Amino acid sequence: MKHALPENTLLQLSEFISSNLALHFPQKRWNDLERNIISASKEFGYNDVEKFIQHIISSPLTRENVEILAANLTINETYFWREPQTFEALEQKIIPGLIRHRQHGERRLRIWSAGCSTGEEPYSIAIAFSRLIPNMKDWNISILATDISPRILHKAIAGEYGQWSFRGAPQWLKENYFIQKPNNKFEIIPDIKSMVKYEYLNLAEDIYPSSLNDTNAMDIIYCRNVLMYFTQDRFRQVSRRLYNSLVQSGYLVVSASELSMQNFSEFVPVNVPGMVLYQKTSKKIKNQNKFTFVESPPESVVFQMPPEPDNNIEAIPQKIDPVYEETLNSYTQGNYEDVIDKLPKDDQTSEERILLIRAYANQGKLPEAIELCKIAIANDKIDPRLQYLYATILQENNQLDEAVESLKRAIYLDSNFVLSYYALGKIYERLGNVKNANKCNKNVLTILSKCSQDEILFESEGLTAGRFKEIINASNQTRALE
Ligand SMILES: C[S@@+](CC[C@H](N)C(=O)[O-])C[C@H]1O[C@@H](n2cnc3c(N)ncnc32)[C@H](O)[C@@H]1O
Repeated sequence: MKHALPENTLLQLSEFISSNLALHFPQKRWNDLERNIISASKEFGYNDVEKFIQHIISSPLTRENVEILAANLTINETYFWREPQTFEALEQKIIPGLIRHRQHGERRLRIWSAGCSTGEEPYSIAIAFSRLIPNMKDWNISILATDISPRILHKAIAGEYGQWSFRGAPQWLKENYFIQKPNNKFEIIPDIKSMVKYEYLNLAEDIYPSSLNDTNAMDIIYCRNVLMYFTQDRFRQVSRRLYNSLVQSGYLVVSASELSMQNFSEFVPVNVPGMVLYQKTSKKIKNQNKFTFVESPPESVVFQMPPEPDNNIEAIPQKIDPVYEETLNSYTQGNYEDVIDKLPKDDQTSEERILLIRAYANQGKLPEAIELCKIAIANDKIDPRLQYLYATILQENNQLDEAVESLKRAIYLDSNFVLSYYALGKIYERLGNVKNANKCNKNVLTILSKCSQDEILFESEGLTAGRFKEIINASNQTRALE
């Protein structure tokens, strides 16, 4: 097939897009790539498309670049109640199971629509929950919706739709959950709108799961019609990260065209009428039950991985503890039960204790995690990591005031602990204390301004200062649209 652009330019461009946006443009899609990149170059104000391509490939990719590229290269096709069998499974199986297991304990449910496009998917999810949970005020239901394109998120936040968005939806959905506007548009009702929180997130980046962007401890992740546009390697990577973002027994929902045993090998496929879902189950159950519906209680709280060792610190020869090494590996694989089974319950080293605390928390065993945190802190009062970890668990347990105190202690012990300031700001926001939240955010930016772009932040699982600044900016801009 003839192309206007030289083949090596298209090859370079497709590789660049694959590694930065995860989008896959094999040779047979180069016509699309060419058309889309020409329209992106016009948006950037370039007349010469080849110069534009060299510009984006050779200079650091800014958020603005990503935004314009994403708007031109992604496919945003979506509609309400898409693949109705998914929503039937949600209403008939998943939500009732979750309610049964959570109603006598912590009434918290966390759902993520990753690649949410213009919002039809997360609003459909919110509608399903509101139909099944009559006493919504007694529940803490959080629906996070993310996309790579802020422009698309802008439309989602506006929540106004034309007839075409309802092409697959049952009649009751439009009648009960939308307000007709004079321009023949339909606006989502405020009760449903307020259930969804929109954020910018590029799935190609290694920034999840993380309590920083609220992508941890998910009960259900919808990631439909997104992965199919990714390269095979990226597909596997993203599915692995989504696995780690789920609580034990949580579900990953993909579209029928994305089902694949090979790409979701860490999950157990679960048959529901007309649909297959992927469930995160423990290794033990996984080996026993192939293709069954495992209705064990989804548990809560996924924490970030323990930090990589700091390569700048001169290595002190240390004894390698094989049990710790093995359990750390299980933890990285998201197999938190294994960690709990294998680590000693008494007389642990401090690193073993921290790993055990995280594993307990990831299994929803918050009381055990809190108890062990108290012991760890009693043994070591000057480790700011312990205060930060304790605060994160307290926050998940809705003990916000205690979490504030713990974060203040972490900051007292390490005045440059940027993630503690960030977490404290988030809690102040939740408590409606705007003044203190702003102070914390200012401190975050001040500390970051003193760091080099590539500096890896303390307790951050490899997040660099530069990247963290971009995430904060993107998040602030998306919020400004609300
Ligand atoms: C076809 S839509 C799917 C919408 C919805 N999930 C559904 O199934 O109806 C694909 C969405 O994925 C988003 N997307 C593509 N690449 C992405 C990436 N690397 N990170 C996050 N979102 C991405 C696109 O912007 C687009 O909105």
